[in-house]
Amino acid sequence: MKKDFFTYQAQTTSTPLAMEVSYAKGSFIYDTSHKKYLDFVAGVSACSLGHQHPRVINAIKEQVDSYLHVMVYGEYILKPAVTLTKLLAEHLPFPLQKTYLTNSGTEAIEGALKLARRATGRSQIITAKKAYHGNTMGAMSVMGFEERKQAFRPLIPDVNYITFNQEEELSLITTKTAAVILETIQGGAGFITPVNDYLKKVRNRCSEVGALLILDEIQPGFGRTGKLFGFMHYDIVPDIVVMGKGMGGGMPIGAFTTDTKTMNLLQDNPKLGHITTFGGNPVIAAAALATLQEITESDVMAASLEKEKLFRSLLIHPLIKEIRGTGLMLAIMTPSEDITSKAILRCQEAGVILFWLLFEPKAIRITPPLTISEEEIKMGCDIILSILDEIHTDID
Ligand SMILES: Cc1ncc(COP(=O)(O)O)c(C=O)c1O
Repeated sequence: MKKDFFTYQAQTTSTPLAMEVSYAKGSFIYDTSHKKYLDFVAGVSACSLGHQHPRVINAIKEQVDSYLHVMVYGEYILKPAVTLTKLLAEHLPFPLQKTYLTNSGTEAIEGALKLARRATGRSQIITAKKAYHGNTMGAMSVMGFEERKQAFRPLIPDVNYITFNQEEELSLITTKTAAVILETIQGGAGFITPVNDYLKKVRNRCSEVGALLILDEIQPGFGRTGKLFGFMHYDIVPDIVVMGKGMGGGMPIGAFTTDTKTMNLLQDNPKLGHITTFGGNPVIAAAALATLQEITESDVMAASLEKEKLFRSLLIHPLIKEIRGTGLMLAIMTPSEDITSKAILRCQEAGVILFWLLFEPKAIRITPPLTISEEEIKMGCDIILSILDEIHTDID
């Protein structure tokens, strides 16, 4: 299998982890040699309820027995998609009422950017340095990391940058701005949370100049920070909220939600303003609905804040300089890129899956399933600490 993987399937680094998976359940992944790994990454924040959550699996199975794909997006009435979007509206603050379902996070970002231009008649998009919003051309155009964009230029024009958490730069948002797009918590940059009412100040500036505020909740959304969406910690309401990853409970989905009047602009001038064949797919929507129901009906959201405290109390070590993030979106900061890489690779050997962040080489990602147990957290942290001890001894 490994030979075929390298021969036939595309890779995006020359050194992929290349674990050959045979099975995954709860907080564990098993490889084909029956080795068991505790998953502290959850498919990069996507497996919000762990692997094979029974509620998600049952919803998928039930839907598979009724119908799969039947029609392109938004033409037929499909119960899983309608129920999902209605439940989302019930959990979102007014006027975030109407949701467009997509196949991925990056595609939802594309839709949100297009809608902002359509709604304002303006072209400028303001994004943050070190922002990550996805990898298609539009989403990549608003990525704040030139090194990873340069080879693909020219990208979409009229994109300007501000520094996250720097309120002095908010004057760059003007009446020329169609939208400001920000991650509520910057992910790739190193799990940077907003401080000093930053998001409120951005919100106010956008309202002042008539620009839309798009919040990318693709990673923090769906309960990872202790609330359904990260922005709910900051007493603001964006104009458009974009979601994905954990939304599908392990299935591929994204979405953007806004007020009814704005969303309806996609119907005219031009009509078919954003279309997709598979967005809102009934099987995927059924999985997302089950995920949303489980997250909002169980105690996993509140528990994630308790679990954060447990991680922070356990992960104390001379090689841990800081732990960033909120809830179960945590990043261990080590003194160097080399230590971070060694720790990630050796922990995988020792049976704990960790991962890197996109633009912050000293960070170790900890984004386990929200359903992870306290015993599993303790078991994983013991292994991380023992690997860090080994690395510390090597350095001395
Ligand atoms: C904040 C953020 N935005 C957008 C995306 C893109 O989502 P997807 O990979 O589903 O296209 C990601 C994925 O990592 C993300 O973390």
